[in-house]
Amino acid sequence: MGIFSNDIKTLDDLFVHQLRDIYYAEKQIVQALPEMIEKASDASLKQGFETHLGETKNHVKRLEQVFKMHGVEAKGVDCPAIDGIIEEADDVVGEVDDKSVLDAALIAAAQAVEHYEMTRYGTLRTWAEELGYTKSVKLLQQTLDEERATDAALTKLAKAVINLDAEADQAA
Ligand SMILES: [Fe+2]
Ligand SMILES: [Fe+2]
Repeated sequence: MGIFSNDIKTLDDLFVHQLRDIYYAEKQIVQALPEMIEKASDASLKQGFETHLGETKNHVKRLEQVFKMHGVEAKGVDCPAIDGIIEEADDVVGEVDDKSVLDAALIAAAQAVEHYEMTRYGTLRTWAEELGYTKSVKLLQQTLDEERATDAALTKLAKAVINLDAEADQAA
């Protein structure tokens, strides 16, 4: 179903469509994170990905709660945007040998994912507010806060990983 398909007539239809888009995306992220955990060499990065895998599984459950409260079936729709982000990450990461550079590439890929999620949850939260879906606002905001916190933690890790690499170069 395209975004301008005839099935979307009201803001509520659009809300459900975007819920399905991010539901699909979250499920793809649950699939993609174990490989990222395996590839990460920095211990804090590995741990950070593991923590976020747990959070992401919870994001799927929260979305299922929103679908339920809304009385619609919890199902995904194709989201070419997240497929593209994950595919590009696979391509780049697959070409990197140096461990610190690989970690930097993994962080960059993960931040692209977080930013995608942040834009989707930000919009959904705002629409839920407009539509008066108070309980959904709360759930969507919780997830948005976790995506933001993850993004901020990744920025810190990116700096640490790059600095460690620079120090190793100086010592060599
Ligand atoms: Fe998420
Ligand atoms: Fe996330």
